[in-house]
Order: sequence, then structure tokens, then C-alpha cells
Amino acid sequence: MDCGQCWDCSTNEKCITKQDILSIYKSANLEEAIKKFDILNINDEANILGGKIFNKVYEARKGLFYDILHYDTIISTNLHGVYPNGKTLFRFIKGAIPKENRKKYKDIIKPIAKAKTKNRGQATGPCQVEKFPKNAVALCNRKGEVYTDGKDRYSVHYKDKEGKIIGRCQSNIVRSGVAGYFDAVAGMPCRQVGWSRDNLSKHDTLSELARDIESNHKNYEEESYLYHKEQANLNPSYLFKDSIYSTMTLNYDFRTACHTDYGDLDNGLSTLTIFEELEDNYTGLYLGLPEYKIAFDLRDGDTLIFNAHEFHANTEGEPLTDKLPIDDLTGKNFCGRMSVVCYLRDKIKNCPNEPFTGKLKRGKQVLNQQ
Ligand SMILES: [Fe+2]
Repeated sequence: MDCGQCWDCSTNEKCITKQDILSIYKSANLEEAIKKFDILNINDEANILGGKIFNKVYEARKGLFYDILHYDTIISTNLHGVYPNGKTLFRFIKGAIPKENRKKYKDIIKPIAKAKTKNRGQATGPCQVEKFPKNAVALCNRKGEVYTDGKDRYSVHYKDKEGKIIGRCQSNIVRSGVAGYFDAVAGMPCRQVGWSRDNLSKHDTLSELARDIESNHKNYEEESYLYHKEQANLNPSYLFKDSIYSTMTLNYDFRTACHTDYGDLDNGLSTLTIFEELEDNYTGLYLGLPEYKIAFDLRDGDTLIFNAHEFHANTEGEPLTDKLPIDDLTGKNFCGRMSVVCYLRDKIKNCPNEPFTGKLKRGKQVLNQQ
């Protein structure tokens, strides 16, 4: 069926246009809004005018995995969540990415997102030897002293079967990669990351994705969009072409532990977009805000614009079929959930006008904290 700017043409009842949504917000026609949006727990008119207010109800702890039972509300459709002062906490945009564009993005994202990495720090949870390389037998400090105190650590060395101390510290292995640009961190220059430098035409396709995400940012969070644009234009050679974003973190079936993002725009909002390798092949992997006890069931093509400086984490995921292969990291079939965090790095404004595009010496380890 053809329904113009339809957000989700897969079901008739959710086939609503952006114009519908804007007009409903303006008219505050609560009954119509509830019928069309399936908004959860909205019970007064004030909420629909400025968004639904969410209060912090819990003190979360970094590094913990929060499971589904922690949350009171799962949000799976369009909703604007705000702080008591009216500022945006999140904006859930169902079907934000046009259906016809998704396949070309997935084809590019999958191999980057699926690559194993050991530099995701706190977001991977406390270091566990089982989540280290297969030859690891114990976690230790730089001198080889094995940790026996039971304390949570997020970046450590390890000993292999021969007793050799591995000289570079790392976190648990997960599947994640990065595209775009980075500012100067850990002695490395402001630069275009290796994948983008070596895959220019694919990088250009990701710029199209950045612009698709941006158009939602502009439509639904205009104040935030204008702030990003002003900041992004301070150093435009570090941006996905004609967009306000510098960087994408791409994850595959990555269940994050409780963490806050670091390095993105101060007072900015981040975007999280989901692509499914096979549609409806898994359940769970909700992105939760544990301090607000809300979690989001983002599905293929959905975008969440949110304050990533709030604690966030994923619930457990469960594949529904054995159509995708077994993941050697988990021993279970892949779910096939790709997530794209598309954002502007704060310190890029301090970088030289042209990014470094040469090859870097091996041996540097840069934490990616998105
Ligand atoms: Fe994050």
C-alpha cells in the first residue's frame, strides 16, 4: 500500500504520516493521539502537549547488566519523553529510515558491526576471562599479578596458557566497529578512521544514512538539531557529508552493560538506529534507561534520539530461529540486531581543519565509549 510519508506501511493502523503527528501534537486531541500512537500510560492532556514526563526513580550502577524485569514500561512506538522541566529525554521515531533505503545500509553496516573488538570498555561489563581470547587463563595487571579480589574492572591485561602476560589491556570481546571521524585521543591525531579511509564509496553511503537520521532529528528535535548544526559547522571536514554528525558506532548483537557515553557533544542528543539482518528474528535486546525504568523495543528502521549521558544498557536478547549462524562469543544463534549510534564528537571543533587520513602505527588502543 502506498501512503506517502508513512512511518510504517506494514500495518494499516500504524500507517500515519509525520504531518498527522505534528498536527495531533498541536491540537492536543488526546483521544485521537492515543488511538493512533498507542502511547503508553498517557493520562492527561498536559503530557501530550509537551511530551510525556519521566522522572528518575532509581540509582543505577555502571557496569551492571539490567534484565527485562528491572523495567516498568517497554515503549515500542512513537513517543516523546521529557524531563520534568520539559527538555527532551528521548524521542522514539518508528520507521525513521525509509524502507527502500534499509537494505543498502545493512549490507555496508553488517561487516563493520560484526567485527570483534576489545576496546568497548565499561559498556561490555566487568572483565570476565570467558569473554577474553580463548587462550586467556587469568586476568591480571601489567606486572602479571592475577586479580583475586573480585572487584569489577573494565580494562585489564591477561595471562595466556604459557604464562605470558599480554602487554596491552583490553575489555571483554564484543562485536562493534566505527566509521567516520575521531578527535585526538590517546596520542592519536584528529582523523578519518581506518574503515572510512579505506572504503570511501561505502563511507559515502553511510553519509546518506547520516542524512536520513538527520532529517528526523531536524523534524522532531529542531532545537537540538540547530545546536548540533552550529557546533558541527565549526569544523565541517570531519562530518559525514552534508550532515551534522561526525561518527558512527556500529554494533552487532551487542548487549551493553550500564554505561554513559563519553566524547559526544556536550548538552547534545545522540541517535540510535536499528537494522535487523532478518526481520523479526529475535526478541529482547531492548535499550533501557535503568534510572527511569523504561526500555525501548526498537525494531528495523526505528530511531531513538536520546540523552546518551543518562545511564543506558540493553536487556538480554533471544534469537527466535536458527536461520542465522551460531555466534562463537555466546554459543547461541545470532539475533541479527545491528545498532548504529550516529553522533557528533564534541572535541572535533578543536581539531585542525583537515583530518589525518594516513595509516597509524599499530599498538594504540583507543576506548570507544558509545
Ligand atoms: Fe552508549
